Amino acid sequence: MTKIIWMSDPHFQTKGTIAGLDPRARLAAAIEHANAHHSDADFVILSGDLVGDDIEGDYTALAEYLGRSELPIHPMMGNNDNRDGFRLRLALPADTMPGFIQFARHTADGIVVCLDTHKVGSHAGQFCDARRDWLDELLRTYSGKDAYIFMHHPAFALGLPKQDEIMLEEGDAFLNLICGHPNVKHLFMGHVHRPTCGTMRGIPFATLGALSFQAPAPRPSWDWDSFKPAREAPQYGVLEISNGNATLQYTQFCDFAFGMDG
Ligand SMILES: [Fe+2]
Repeated sequence: MTKIIWMSDPHFQTKGTIAGLDPRARLAAAIEHANAHHSDADFVILSGDLVGDDIEGDYTALAEYLGRSELPIHPMMGNNDNRDGFRLRLALPADTMPGFIQFARHTADGIVVCLDTHKVGSHAGQFCDARRDWLDELLRTYSGKDAYIFMHHPAFALGLPKQDEIMLEEGDAFLNLICGHPNVKHLFMGHVHRPTCGTMRGIPFATLGALSFQAPAPRPSWDWDSFKPAREAPQYGVLEISNGNATLQYTQFCDFAFGMDG
């Protein structure tokens, strides 16, 4: 059995709060909770939007927080990340693709692939020819093993109107690629700060609430000017894979008001 703790969107910053919520306290609580309850997990995946605006300071302090985890943590790129800052402060697996922060972990139950969908200067995502070629080659090389793919940006619209505007730009090309590899068993995507699940072209997918703040449901409608985080608790995912079957438990590690100003 392979057990993976999936966390996303900590939006870590060394100072201050986001909409009154403290991202440091929430990241620390998530790590502490996983240490206490999931010491049997293989590793943690942190699927992007690691930091805020202070690239050097935030990554330096983030590395210290991640060091509190008793499980190995594999951070990934999100739209709010910076590859140079990331590489300077966070350890990368030896097989990381040159030029982009994407890599694979090999487990007893298949390969776990962590993609880099960052587009410089944009909140939307990008998955260029070079990254697609790398993934195509990896999936072909390990065609006899199940593949579980983690990525920050969803590759298709989820019915979340504001988030759908900043999804992956080359979504169709990505889906065409993975549909050519029947060993792809599941997609796991961050970015939207909400739990959703379903299938796309027959491939199951899931998204996850953020460690930091939660996006509202699509109704009643909202826009970025009226945006207020949903009064929902943060969460992480506990993914267990065994004999070709995967289950994901959405897990609350603190309540909505935890780390709130005042
Ligand atoms: Fe985010």
